[in-house]
Amino acid sequence: MAQHLSVITYPDQAIASALPLLHAGAVIAMPTETVYGLAADATNPQAITRIYETKGRPRFNPLICHVSDLAMAERYGRFDPLSRQLAEQFWPGPLTLVVPVKPGCGLHDLATAGLDTVGLRAPRGFASELIAAFGKPLAAPSANTSGRISPTTAAHVEEDLGGKIPLILDADAAAVGVESTILKVEDGQIRLLRPGGLSVEDIEAATGLTVIRSEKAGAIIEAPGMLASHYAPNASVRLNATVVHPGEAAITFGSAAPEGLEKAVAVLNLSASGDLAEAAANLFSFMKQADASGAASIAFTAIPAHGLGEAINDRLERAAAPR
Ligand code: TXA
Ligand code: MG
Repeated sequence: MAQHLSVITYPDQAIASALPLLHAGAVIAMPTETVYGLAADATNPQAITRIYETKGRPRFNPLICHVSDLAMAERYGRFDPLSRQLAEQFWPGPLTLVVPVKPGCGLHDLATAGLDTVGLRAPRGFASELIAAFGKPLAAPSANTSGRISPTTAAHVEEDLGGKIPLILDADAAAVGVESTILKVEDGQIRLLRPGGLSVEDIEAATGLTVIRSEKAGAIIEAPGMLASHYAPNASVRLNATVVHPGEAAITFGSAAPEGLEKAVAVLNLSASGDLAEAAANLFSFMKQADASGAASIAFTAIPAHGLGEAINDRLERAAAPR
């Protein structure tokens, strides 16, 4: 059923408009520093079911439960010393920690997909104020139809889900631009379940520990949302391009100047100065723009593998995967 949509710019009436909807079990679009999220009460099964219906997600995958701070997180998850240290060092921020769920804490099984662990994240900025005002965690996947590119602006959400949700809170473009890094501490070791907006280098520098990268196949089981053909534009995606073919759109990085660039349908540079944080912030928006050019294929030049390049390359490999 089509819904009447309000778009409210932060701060204005953002929190006052959102709270009654959240208490009534509605889903709303909420800005975070990574991507816009489709948020609902993580303790309410009808609300969580609505998230899946709105996204058209075929299966119940565990959702990240967003908290206002570590104190709220500790009401729902059991933090070992290293997980607590990571939360203290990197929250609020683009980091999700998978920890054992506290039995009887009130999080609904539909949010955790019945697992005995839960992914918790304290986002920066407005989302944190909203969750503190709500007083309970908000379950939130990215605010896009399943399989599409994650939204980094309120306009992206409106294009995709405008008829399906009652409220979009608009707080400008997401500063980080790729989803959170997901970590799980096991036996005193930090395992990377999904590369994201917090780089492995930063985690290793802060903890003095080596982050264990999962096998790709294991990662799919651990983080079931990480299906191969995720983040897909309509156009096909070609990586590490040194040549742009006729009719293609090109997305470049730094000073890369592939052969045939002058004939590209559209040319976008993720970061002319070669800054990976700027490239991450532009990534999803530029993929949508290249798609809108009507090109049947998007050629990306190589992106360095270090720092935020790990998350960028992860998303690009998924976008390029066979569908
Ligand atoms: O930046 C982000 O993380 C964004 C914003 C909105 O916060 N959210 C996001 O959520 O990316 P979503 O639903 O697209 O991705 C959640 C990922 C999935 O891959 C899921 O499998 C994993 O988190 N996950 C959640 N709980 C888990 C758990 N208990 N164990 C392992 N993986 C878990
Ligand atoms: Mg997503």
